[in-house]
Amino acid sequence: MTQSRVAAIILAAGEGTRLNSARPKVLHEIAGAPMIRHVIDALRPLDPVATIVVVGRGMDRVAKAAAPARCVTQSPPRGTGDALRAARPALADLLARGGITDILVLYGDTPLLRSETIAALVDSRRRAPEVAVAVAAMRPADPGPYGRLVLDGDAALMRIVEAKDASAAERTIGLCNGGIMALDARYAFDLVDRIGNDNAKREFYLTDIVGIARAQGMSCRVAELPAEELLGVNTRVELALVETLMQERLRRRAMEEGATLIAPETVFLAADTRLGRDVVVEPNVFFGPGVRVADNVRIRAFSHLEGATIGEGAIVGPFARLRPGAVLEADVHVGNFVEVKETRLGAGVKASHLSYLGDSDIGAGTNIGAGTITCNYDGYGKSRTIIGERVFIGSNTALVAPVTVGDDAYVATGSVVTADVPEGALTIARARQVDKPGRAAALRERLKGKTD
Ligand code: UD1
Ligand code: MG
Repeated sequence: MTQSRVAAIILAAGEGTRLNSARPKVLHEIAGAPMIRHVIDALRPLDPVATIVVVGRGMDRVAKAAAPARCVTQSPPRGTGDALRAARPALADLLARGGITDILVLYGDTPLLRSETIAALVDSRRRAPEVAVAVAAMRPADPGPYGRLVLDGDAALMRIVEAKDASAAERTIGLCNGGIMALDARYAFDLVDRIGNDNAKREFYLTDIVGIARAQGMSCRVAELPAEELLGVNTRVELALVETLMQERLRRRAMEEGATLIAPETVFLAADTRLGRDVVVEPNVFFGPGVRVADNVRIRAFSHLEGATIGEGAIVGPFARLRPGAVLEADVHVGNFVEVKETRLGAGVKASHLSYLGDSDIGAGTNIGAGTITCNYDGYGKSRTIIGERVFIGSNTALVAPVTVGDDAYVATGSVVTADVPEGALTIARARQVDKPGRAAALRERLKGKTD
């Protein structure tokens, strides 16, 4: 058997009417990434010779999310069979050169698919080279709207009937179309060309390809795969269900990789969250995209993190917010109600309470007092605050950027720092306190007279 050379076609041009959304369906997110991204990433280990995404007109944002996969436009969307037809020109050269053995069709709305499962389907077609079409089969708890797989006595696939077109007897079939198909590349598009639209929705159903192949004397088979991975997202309720299942998978992976999640069901992970060994995540923590956590870090309860890199031994939270570009080096402490954005905190920095640190660079060993604010925005542009190593910033300090504080400086509590602080300086930038002995009683008398 020649080696598989798979061209993947991901159908994503449908309008997703049932989601009731202005956004294309496949851009709805699961675990912080658009659905289409999950499907493309799952394909990577199969090393496809080409990946084509079929999008609708005006779906430029889908093309961006799918890059570097190539996009072709299907307009108007007239069904999954018509979508496959739209992909043909993009593969014509490769096909003519015999560079493709399998056309793998996937739907952009099944983000739980794993690489191993896709590979199992391709293998099931390749194992018996005379099989023209292999269809992923599943037995969902509720077959509801899925296409039903009609088998003959020898368990060979005869045809697929869409739920809307099925007879009452056919609707009782529990074996359903999971939405991925492997087609023999030599025949795939000729079969697709024969698909018509004589059905309830007046659409060109890709699923008709099975009946057509059979009529040509070709053989079709099913490969039963886990129903959970083939769940299609068509409604917001299904979106939430798929999110739940994805979260369970991600939490399990994080725990297998050596992180402790004290209450896993309350921790929300992004598909690309990476937690090191012996990381402890307390309850109610949210990870947005792009978070990397090194070993031995503790993320305390009610923290929200995205686009952040956290070094070994750091402690974050409770109630911390790390935004994109937050880089915490080893042993940093970021405490409650501290927000960090586009800021590097050098090794051992402590910012324990109530601070905003944005567009800054803070050197190793520096202490940031409670209530410190980097004033990085003047209503028009952003400016940076640079703080050296071993600096002490007293509580309630406002650092008006652009501003630099030299190494070993000591900024007194309540300062409004508007000019650069030299290395090693003690800076007091606040009004001097004035005490008037005994004058409190006189003031009270005067104020009381005003209200009588
Ligand atoms: C489809 C299958 C059904 C299967 C189910 C599995 C057909 C006719 N039916 O139904 O047998 O059980 O998936 O989830 O294939 N799309 C296009 N262009 C179009 C129409 C759809 O690119 O003209 C894309 C959609 O964006 C989507 C995918 O194809 O990603 C599937 O379309 P969808 O409308 O979700 O089909 P289902 O009704 O779920
Ligand atoms: Mg669907």
